[in-house]
Amino acid sequence: MSAGRQVKRVCLAYSGGLDTSVILHWLIHTYGCEVVAYTADIGQEEELAGLPEKAKETGAVDCVIRDVREEFARDFVFPAIRGGAIYEGTYLLGTALARPLIAKHQAEVARETGCDAVAHGATGKGNDQVRFELTFRALSPELHIIAPWREWDIRSRSDCFAYCEKYGIPVTATLEKPYSIDRNMMHVSYEGGVLEDPWRAPDESMFLTTKSPEKAPDVPSEITIGFERGTPVSIDGEALSPAQLLHRLNALAGEHGVGRVDMVENRFVGLKSRGVYETPGGTVLHCAHRAVESITLDREVMHERDRLSPRYAELIYNGFWYSPEMDVVRALMEASQANVTGEARVSLYKGSVRVTGRRSPVSLYNVAQSSFEDAGPEDTYDQADASGFIRLQGVRLPRR
Ligand code: ARG
Repeated sequence: MSAGRQVKRVCLAYSGGLDTSVILHWLIHTYGCEVVAYTADIGQEEELAGLPEKAKETGAVDCVIRDVREEFARDFVFPAIRGGAIYEGTYLLGTALARPLIAKHQAEVARETGCDAVAHGATGKGNDQVRFELTFRALSPELHIIAPWREWDIRSRSDCFAYCEKYGIPVTATLEKPYSIDRNMMHVSYEGGVLEDPWRAPDESMFLTTKSPEKAPDVPSEITIGFERGTPVSIDGEALSPAQLLHRLNALAGEHGVGRVDMVENRFVGLKSRGVYETPGGTVLHCAHRAVESITLDREVMHERDRLSPRYAELIYNGFWYSPEMDVVRALMEASQANVTGEARVSLYKGSVRVTGRRSPVSLYNVAQSSFEDAGPEDTYDQADASGFIRLQGVRLPRR
């Protein structure tokens, strides 16, 4: 194997798993370069202790771990909640939101450790290569990008194992890892293996963070989530940091089997892909957030925002977090949230999340106006006005 271009030092997004261990060694072997291993703690709940030793044993000159959990929840997950970003009406974007953050810190680490290139372990068929590389392009275009899966002749996991054996690379994974899993503080995603048959139901044993709805408690849990300007800030009146709040909500909702999704989605590169996700906390947040919006958002503001939500989701999904069009869409999303302050009460029960109440100090809901009862002088709504309102709406309707 020969390198396509000279690089001196590469910063590799490294997890310590099979693929990135092989990549680490392969980079050194192929490019004759040095490798700085970089890992973001984004709530994947994997053992990060021992990672630097492992990286160095595999040949890295350095290993940098960055804790980005608060930043992930605050600057990536919560904006997506505020904007109602759900891809194809179903996918809550857990992986798509994490990639630009991982790549942003990777570019920083590359700069700080004197690297002239960056590398990642995403394959040539997926969305993640696009998300990583568009972020590098936008933030550090001078860095050369290496995507080993698009260059080398390794084709499968068994090829990876053979490579490790040949070069004595330490690996702990077993060959029959049945799915490709991506986990962070927002979600766990599963793809590949038996899931590639879209008719085949996932095995119950696959799920890592949610109980099966059938086995969830017979008694519902009620929780109240507080929002300030669209941002979740408390659970049952207790103020929490973004990461704490998401973490807590994952545990509460996961216990009740909330947030499982099974779908076939359209990847940016043009393929259809079956994915299964568990997003317990995120599912509750989207639901509670909309409940608070229902009493705090002006109708027309809500409808403008709702028109743009699918576009916002698509930009996130396709990897354009750092782009001029995203800046414009995000600005509208954020502007829409100025009055979204209040609380929603939800009931978690056997896989479902159901709103049971909402209140706000700045509510636009006017009982006197909306009531079926006569509310007296408080009521500024004159029912007689409705006659003309409807008659004029009808003027343009052709007879049929
Ligand atoms: N399909 C999802 C996305 O594009 C998840 C991709 C990563 N997941 C995985 N299991 N490898 O955002």
